[in-house]
Amino acid sequence: MKNFWKKLKKPILALAPMAGITDSAFREICRQNGADVVYSEMASVSALFFKPQKTLDLVRFRKKERPYVVQLFGKDPTHFAKAAKIITEKVKPDGIDINFGCPAKKVFGHGSGCALMPQKELARQIISTVCDNTHLPISIKIRAGLRDTTAVHFIENIKDLPFSVVMVHGRTYEGSFSGKVDYEIVEKIKKIIPDKIVLANGGIFTPEDGARILKEHPAIDGLGIARGTWGKPFIFDQIKKLISKGKYSEYDFKKIKKIMIKHAELIWKDKKDLGMFEIRKHLVWYVKGFSGAAELRRKLVEAKSVEEIKNILKDS
Ligand SMILES: Cc1cc2nc3c(=O)[nH]c(=O)nc-3n(C[C@H](O)[C@H](O)[C@H](O)COP(=O)(O)O)c2cc1C
Repeated sequence: MKNFWKKLKKPILALAPMAGITDSAFREICRQNGADVVYSEMASVSALFFKPQKTLDLVRFRKKERPYVVQLFGKDPTHFAKAAKIITEKVKPDGIDINFGCPAKKVFGHGSGCALMPQKELARQIISTVCDNTHLPISIKIRAGLRDTTAVHFIENIKDLPFSVVMVHGRTYEGSFSGKVDYEIVEKIKKIIPDKIVLANGGIFTPEDGARILKEHPAIDGLGIARGTWGKPFIFDQIKKLISKGKYSEYDFKKIKKIMIKHAELIWKDKKDLGMFEIRKHLVWYVKGFSGAAELRRKLVEAKSVEEIKNILKDS
């Protein structure tokens, strides 16, 4: 069995999964800017079970994104079994991830995502089923806890199963997306499963955050970064420079404009129907904080083609 995770140099820097954000274009941009591995948006195992085409389109990828992990969510082991098979055979990513961390109503409310953390038997069954239905390495994504079930309880219950990686969002379900991030619990988990890869996720918004967490918690194998990549996909390169050389260079607007254009072109290639809508949200993030941002933002969001975006950026 090929397990790309074992070949990655530590610390491993991963683009964490984000629905509506980590599409093929953004994954490629992050890989080009230092991400060691990239995750898809979460894909429903029930959709893959009943009517797979739309979801298969959602998780399609280009070679330049490799190593690439498709994340699955759901609650029915039968659906997970078929989904793991279809993804392995038709999409052929480098790994499959299982979502045990999502608190969003439409996922959690149906008993999936983080709602699975306290369900000891079902969680074991889902992980075993996915492992049995693919030759790809399996990762899981969990939270620091939900009510009485901590991440430590969860991991103790499944530690003997043959998954390779766990990404721990160091906030509890109750902490949602803004509560305190507990990196200590991530270290505790590494001690329970020393032979598996453990990544810390949550609250990494600057290169300094990333370097500090790795320094203060040396047992951790790497980081998963989500919102800290918005408009700053180069945060991965900057963290690597900061760790290896003690400093990193800021990206001036000239460099960022190049990334913006490449990103817009990739989105446009994939999503002609939704293209400008999808491009806009990234453009707004890229220009945030630059002088004259308000005026530039106004022009960019009114642009109707990638050519128009290029012209606006050329003149700015
Ligand atoms: C817009 C958005 C979409 C997300 N979608 C997913 C998802 O599909 N699967 C998942 O496991 N986590 C998802 N997350 C959670 C992130 O992967 C990450 O755990 C969380 O944002 C904390 O990391 P951060 O502080 O670096 O943003 C999402 C987060 C955001 C903000």
